Amino acid sequence: MNQAIPKQVLAGAEAFAHYSDNQALRIDTNTEAQALQQGRRVGISRTHESAALHVAGEAAYIDDMPELAGTLHCALGLAPIAHGRLLGLDLDAVRAMPDVVAVLTAADIPGVNDCGSIIHDDPILCDGEIRYLGQPLFAVLARTRQAARRAAALAKKIASVEAAEPVLTPQQAHARGQYVVPPMKLTRETQAGATTQAIESAPHRLQGQWEVGGQEQFYLEGQISYAIPKEGQAMHVYCSTQHPSEMQHLVAHALGVHAHDVHVECRRMGGGFGGKESQSALFACVAAVAARRLGRPVKLRLDRDDDFMITGRRHCFWYEYDIGFDDAGRIVGAEVTMVSRAGHSADLSAPVMTRALCHFDNAYWLPNVRMQGFMGKTNTQSNTAFRGFGGPQGAIVMENIMDSIARQLGKDPLDVRRANFYGKTEHNVTPYGQVVDDNIIDELVTQLEARSDYRARRAEAAAFNAQSPVLKRGIALTPVKFGISFNVKHFNQAGALVHVYNDGSILVNHGGTEMGQGLNTKVAQVVAHELGVAFERVRVTATDTTKVANTSATAASTGTDLNGKAAQDAARQIRERLAASMAARHGGAAEAVRFANDTVQVNGKTLAFEEVVKEAYLERVQLWSDGFYATPGLSWDSKTMHGRPFFYFAYGAAVSEVLVDTLTGESKLLRADVLHDVGQSLNPAVDIGQVEGAFVQGMGWLTMEELVWHPKTGALMTHAPSTYKIPTANDCPPVLNVQLFEGANPHDTIHRSKAVGEPPLLLPFSVFFAIRDAVAACGAPGNCPPLRAPATAEAVLNAIENVQQGV
Ligand code: MTE
Ligand code: MOS
Repeated sequence: MNQAIPKQVLAGAEAFAHYSDNQALRIDTNTEAQALQQGRRVGISRTHESAALHVAGEAAYIDDMPELAGTLHCALGLAPIAHGRLLGLDLDAVRAMPDVVAVLTAADIPGVNDCGSIIHDDPILCDGEIRYLGQPLFAVLARTRQAARRAAALAKKIASVEAAEPVLTPQQAHARGQYVVPPMKLTRETQAGATTQAIESAPHRLQGQWEVGGQEQFYLEGQISYAIPKEGQAMHVYCSTQHPSEMQHLVAHALGVHAHDVHVECRRMGGGFGGKESQSALFACVAAVAARRLGRPVKLRLDRDDDFMITGRRHCFWYEYDIGFDDAGRIVGAEVTMVSRAGHSADLSAPVMTRALCHFDNAYWLPNVRMQGFMGKTNTQSNTAFRGFGGPQGAIVMENIMDSIARQLGKDPLDVRRANFYGKTEHNVTPYGQVVDDNIIDELVTQLEARSDYRARRAEAAAFNAQSPVLKRGIALTPVKFGISFNVKHFNQAGALVHVYNDGSILVNHGGTEMGQGLNTKVAQVVAHELGVAFERVRVTATDTTKVANTSATAASTGTDLNGKAAQDAARQIRERLAASMAARHGGAAEAVRFANDTVQVNGKTLAFEEVVKEAYLERVQLWSDGFYATPGLSWDSKTMHGRPFFYFAYGAAVSEVLVDTLTGESKLLRADVLHDVGQSLNPAVDIGQVEGAFVQGMGWLTMEELVWHPKTGALMTHAPSTYKIPTANDCPPVLNVQLFEGANPHDTIHRSKAVGEPPLLLPFSVFFAIRDAVAACGAPGNCPPLRAPATAEAVLNAIENVQQGV
């Protein structure tokens, strides 16, 4: 092997090669070595920049930071009822608890008592109105975390309250017309009234109601903020957050100071999954307010149960639909109403609903469609972002419709799906008016269908089921089309800073946050590639509001698209300055200077990168640069819900095969085959990791993760791993073939890659519909199992009972 390739890099690639038996992960070290030799640093399965630190337990999370002397610990006293009024708090009892230093309430907030991200309807501490069981009423500051928690636990005893009837479900809220923001409408029809006409005159009709549950993010690192008061009015907050800039603004409002007084920093999160996009704010604000009041550092790290009780999660959705279709199963008209459980405040419920409505079409062309979205205001935690951001909830109801149409017509659901796919030159306009100009769904599904042996295995499953009265197999193929960009145009911007130090080492800072998804790894690759240097030369530092200003949340899967381009812009400027300076010193054209493999070729000479940097420094060349990026071509009219909200679409498909025990309702995923489109991958190993993770996480949502609120008290009964089941390694199917679709992004993204964070969460729809397929095998041909999601053993048994009774 070539000496020029750093040993560590090859070791990294080899580590991946042995990581798993998974075919897709068997990375060809020769190809990788070749890429490195060619000077390419992108398209390489580089290990996660923190992989070694993660496995050694050396990656620092906020709770690992050495505490400053005088640090106080905070815990929150929570509302014991779901709805009503807070009449008073006997705080003396709390103050009398051992090691308690202070107790703060809403009255102690010097600025605004609000941490709402879009609408200012989200009190930090209760202002008199109790909105949900678990709402923070007061904050205890104590010398130890234990002491703070013990004192805060008195909340039940010391709060005098007046209880009112809670509204808990989206249906209840909808019946009362109680919403967090006004309802939304998205309509596209050939002429006014065409949808209803098309449905009524269609050869077939499908009407139904359906529901899909919510999902807890269950990040491994819970919510945490550590606030350190600084001189003047300044405040430094270490916060586990996907959105440092928003934390900065909300903390500034709570303190009654300006943005430049607040410094928010986040090196990494132990997972966010959307749960730390807006909901990290309450804790950042409480910690900062307490730190200001007491003039001491304050740490607020939530206990897992409190995290469940205080923060929101994925919205559950309730749907009603009316569909007209032809003999081939093609939809001619669709009407759908979606009602989400928003919780007590708006939070991100409106953009989540927007994404749900914009993903109802999934991979299918709808000639006439009328959609409505209602965000029910309930006395529960305020629901928020979760991987897919409403997209999964929007698309899965369509897949339920496709599956039902197929069952009604006695067709293979794949044939019905295919009959409805978007076209390439016609039938390619989405309900919101965007032309699908990068459609690859048909090729992708065709490839997967062949690779997974879908048809033969379907026939095998049918043969198996004919012989097997108790165990039933089911198989399903579902496609994904997912729009990439924030629906709000101005969020689609990013900044970065690249510093080249005069020893040739490189530091990158950008506005995105690292939550395990590998953003920093990809950005470092982009910078290494641009400057033609080894990965080891590039270090990415903590996200920091004093470095890059006005950043967007790392969300909507846009982290690499935005920050990768911004970092590339910064690196390119430095490279151009270096090239100009070298051409001036050594002759030749600046455009002819080449940067590759830690060397620079200029006018026939080959110089080491360090040498070039040193020379340039002596020539007084600026060796650091900022970079900026704004996604081109986007438009969105939120009133008419039309425009081009997405730069491009990411596609994928999965085939899942399950085995269902019809006596217990238990199901097991036997095999899954995934073909997913990430354009030209920047890092196949990281991308495959994202696909696998999203697949299992989405499977958890649809099969085992169930949230239960007590119907009378409104208490969340499933508030810990003891009662809320997330998938483990044991739930991974014995066969999970993940492959990346070959093809570049036709749109000009960073090295023609595509976002990967969220779209694969929709792939395990195939698991759910495979279970539905197995359940259908329990009844007469043509039955349509009323299976709700999550398809827990209980839900499966209910559905089986139903089809067996021939309902
Ligand atoms: N992967 C890990 N390991 N941890 C996470 O918290 N969050 C997901 C996804 N993948 C997440 C993850 C979500 S919700 C989003 S929006 C994207 O990562 C955000 O990062 P990206 O834009 O850099 O892909
Ligand atoms: Mo992801 S739900 O957009 O943070």
